[in-house]
Amino acid sequence: MNMPIKEKILSQLIHANGEPISGQKLADQLNISRTMVWKHLKSIEEDGYVIEAIKKKGYVLQSIPDIVSPERISSYLDTKSIGRNIFYYPVCESTQTIATEKASDHAAHGTVVITEQQTAGRGRLERPWDSSANKGIWMSVIIRPEISPQYAAQFTLVSAVAITRAIEELTDCSPAIKWPNDLLINGKKVTGILTELQADMDRVQAIIIGIGVNVNQELEAFDESIQSIATSLKMETGQEVNRAELVAKILYYLEKYADIYVENGFEPIKLLWESYNCTIGKRIRANMLRETLEGVAMGITNDGVLELKLDNGQIRGIYSADIHL
Ligand code: BTN
Repeated sequence: MNMPIKEKILSQLIHANGEPISGQKLADQLNISRTMVWKHLKSIEEDGYVIEAIKKKGYVLQSIPDIVSPERISSYLDTKSIGRNIFYYPVCESTQTIATEKASDHAAHGTVVITEQQTAGRGRLERPWDSSANKGIWMSVIIRPEISPQYAAQFTLVSAVAITRAIEELTDCSPAIKWPNDLLINGKKVTGILTELQADMDRVQAIIIGIGVNVNQELEAFDESIQSIATSLKMETGQEVNRAELVAKILYYLEKYADIYVENGFEPIKLLWESYNCTIGKRIRANMLRETLEGVAMGITNDGVLELKLDNGQIRGIYSADIHL
């Protein structure tokens, strides 16, 4: 990946795992002068990193600020296109709103908008999304797959599988997916996904995937109204999670599963989704705009529609609903 020099230096310091790296070695590897190395190190320190200079040995990274800056995310990133272009805001109203504007403005495939805090975070069905400062992942990813709009909803399930896989890899938790795309741990919501579409009649222009992950919050960080239904990765494991590393891992799996989806269709994603889901086979209540239905969730169709078997034996397809298990 073609990273800017400052990010390359930061990446080397992070991956040195406490071993000193000499200024000369950095200068030689990056083909720049030692003065330039020193200037980049100063700039890295200004971002909140603590770097110790050890005489005759080199530089050691002593501490990392807990932020989701592009430099930090890029130091963990292993993708071809997703996350190559990151817009970072210490505070904003909603990354989804900004990403929607950027997508209309021709932002490239894979562009990410991320913030430390949202003042007007948006959830599904026009609900507010609780996005406290510096504790969660609040980001929106612009994807431009070459598919027709009728298949766009399947991307919601691609995202749910990617985030589940990333959380599973970096923590001791294995979330379960509640249809279509809520990630639950011990029955409480740890992640929400809001997928929005920009399309012509026959072609997707952009899918904007809004991802909210509760990472390092304690219970009090949540609004009282959701304290009984929300959780964070830290509350479940007792351990702080490196948010920038988790962002990079989510982007990695998003790219991987989006590629699989575009090359091989929905079937492999559907199988993964089914292996993580906690809805199928259960008796559920589906609250929709105009009616509420109860029955047993039988499975999802190839379009990602939930099939509900009502008590009278009738099978109904659910396209959008709030599901209660
Ligand atoms: C849900 O209701 O479950 C979806 C929540 C989606 C929240 C994310 S946080 C980042 C992005 N920006 C927003 O305003 N919303 C999404």
